[in-house]
Amino acid sequence: MSSLVPADHSPEIEKAAAILRRGGLVAFPTETVYGLGADATSDNAVAGIYAAKQRPSFNPLIAHVASLEEARQHGLFSETAFLLARQFWPGPLTLVVPAAPQGKICSLARAGLDSVALRVPAHPLARALIEATGLPLAAPSANRSGRVSPVTAEQVREDLGDRVDFILDGGPCPIGLESTIIDCLGDVPRLLRPGGISRQTIEDCLGKRLSQSSAVSPPSVSQAEPLRAPGLLTSHYAPRAAVRLEATSVHEDEAGLDFGGTFGRQGGDNCLDLSPGGDLREAAAHLFTYLRQLDRLGLPRIAVAPIPENGLGEAINDRLRRAAAPRAPQADG
Ligand code: TXA
Ligand code: MG
Repeated sequence: MSSLVPADHSPEIEKAAAILRRGGLVAFPTETVYGLGADATSDNAVAGIYAAKQRPSFNPLIAHVASLEEARQHGLFSETAFLLARQFWPGPLTLVVPAAPQGKICSLARAGLDSVALRVPAHPLARALIEATGLPLAAPSANRSGRVSPVTAEQVREDLGDRVDFILDGGPCPIGLESTIIDCLGDVPRLLRPGGISRQTIEDCLGKRLSQSSAVSPPSVSQAEPLRAPGLLTSHYAPRAAVRLEATSVHEDEAGLDFGGTFGRQGGDNCLDLSPGGDLREAAAHLFTYLRQLDRLGLPRIAVAPIPENGLGEAINDRLRRAAAPRAPQADG
């Protein structure tokens, strides 16, 4: 473990691990976004996550583990799941597989489903923390439910403040967009959420197309039946301002989220360009931070320039469409 942890972080890792072992909450950096972690084997600890996030309890969590070997103690890997794990772990990929009969991921983390979402993160601090804790860590993004995912420790503090016992600060997350989620429950793997690894990269590895899951509308809290793809709440990643997509100009009462210089000099200081040079990776890394910055201007709306749908553009557009979707009253937490 110690070789993976920058020397100046070791005492913090130990402190964080101790908090997690006694059932507390620790926000930690991953290569995608900051996670709000708790002991994934303890219903009690996981309940703390739902409470801090004010998250509807039917929405299951990703369990973060140290290795594929460890993942296989908790989930049953088909040939396809195994292939994807071998190729992309550690990294920004989450696999939904049938829960193993002897698996230790508690049912609250799985929201009562008989499947489990597993991921081996690549970030050195996340890896060090999992190893130091010796437990799988349930961790959704460290924001209040329905809000933009945090990509810096400061953003976690803004959103969760003292609802979290400790924040492990690892600087900005390099990818800035959540993991890609693949459902490996059926014969054909399904893309549940586009993310840090593009659909094309995964399809190239599998040598076949992924089936597409269709977004569901925001369920009501009283919904009895667990959702098959509960990650797909339509209104999610919502800034306070309304969001107008495919904008080619910025109106006077709008902030502007530009891409590739579409807006030119319109909007002035109220405009931020995700990537003036049109680079989708750079745009992904800036997305959530820029949405927060523009939201802070207090204008009623954010105009968003068109973003190409290829590569990471699919995941970026997915987040933006959710941000623009009509808001369910309870979705803001
Ligand atoms: O990059 C990420 O994935 C970040 C970092 C912290 O790892 N985590 C993250 O977690 O985005 P969260 O909870 O915000 O999103 C996880 C998504 C949820 O939308 C959830 O519905 C879905 O994964 N999910 C979890 N378990 C599932 C299951 N058994 N079946 C279908 N979807 C599942
Ligand atoms: Mg989230």
